[in-house]
Amino acid sequence: MGMQKSKGREIFGAGPEWTEGLEEDLIDNFREFKCFELIPENFFDNPHRRYFLEALRKLSTPVLVHSVGLSLGTDEPFKAAHFEKILAIGDQVNMINVSDHLSMTESGGIEIGQLTPIPWSIKTADIVIRKIEQIQKRITVPFALEHTAHKFFYPTSELSEAEFINRILEKTGCDLILDLHNLHCNSKNAGYDPHGWLSQIHTEAVTSIHLAGGYVDKYGTLQDGHDEIVPEPVWDLLDHVLKMLTPQAIIIERTGNYPGIENLMMEVERAERALSASLKQSTKNPSPNLRELAGAV
Ligand SMILES: [Fe+2]
Repeated sequence: MGMQKSKGREIFGAGPEWTEGLEEDLIDNFREFKCFELIPENFFDNPHRRYFLEALRKLSTPVLVHSVGLSLGTDEPFKAAHFEKILAIGDQVNMINVSDHLSMTESGGIEIGQLTPIPWSIKTADIVIRKIEQIQKRITVPFALEHTAHKFFYPTSELSEAEFINRILEKTGCDLILDLHNLHCNSKNAGYDPHGWLSQIHTEAVTSIHLAGGYVDKYGTLQDGHDEIVPEPVWDLLDHVLKMLTPQAIIIERTGNYPGIENLMMEVERAERALSASLKQSTKNPSPNLRELAGAV
């Protein structure tokens, strides 16, 4: 089939995420990484971290600029000034896309401090859609949206999660970040089949995949801690998904409790091997344009 592109775009491979305390080790191994993810907010007002961006730029490493601060689900005006700061960080590296989460991180000007679930409703979808459209008008690289691990589920919902996500993808034509640990946590905590969830989502919009590990809290809930190795059920989900689609990038998200750079390298290599193997035996269908499918203008 020759399906060697992701949504019509170049495929890069696997890489890690920037994390505090591991900068020197990451820089030493930059050449091993096919791509890199960073949270731009970690670089705001931190001129001493400029050297890290410099090192990335020198190698032209493809960088996925992954914001946690736009609070797309909040029913308040788009944070345009914040977004300009994100782009100022992205301009210092080889930025291949910008992304944020399908959640809210503030309300009424108050910072919540974590990715908080938003209601799956048409009204909330419209709020997110309007903000993504503002982002897309401002940038020349693609925008990607990540579905999140839910700290809680609303008792009633107008839409299913799949309907909610798909509606936004159809209206904006944006990319989807598929986080397989988020899916693993949600499916375990809410008791559903992750394969069934995947079959309902517009997976043709997926351009990157996140892998991570987490922990079980004192209430018995699986949490997306980014502080453990990627568990085997998540690797199994990756194998399943790579039969359906080809991402541009697979990112290992590990931001705490580091056992050392070697373990991170092993996980990046394992993801790289899985992607290469899937490319060799690819029989996937080329990705259709979602907007065309949805009949949107
Ligand atoms: Fe993620």
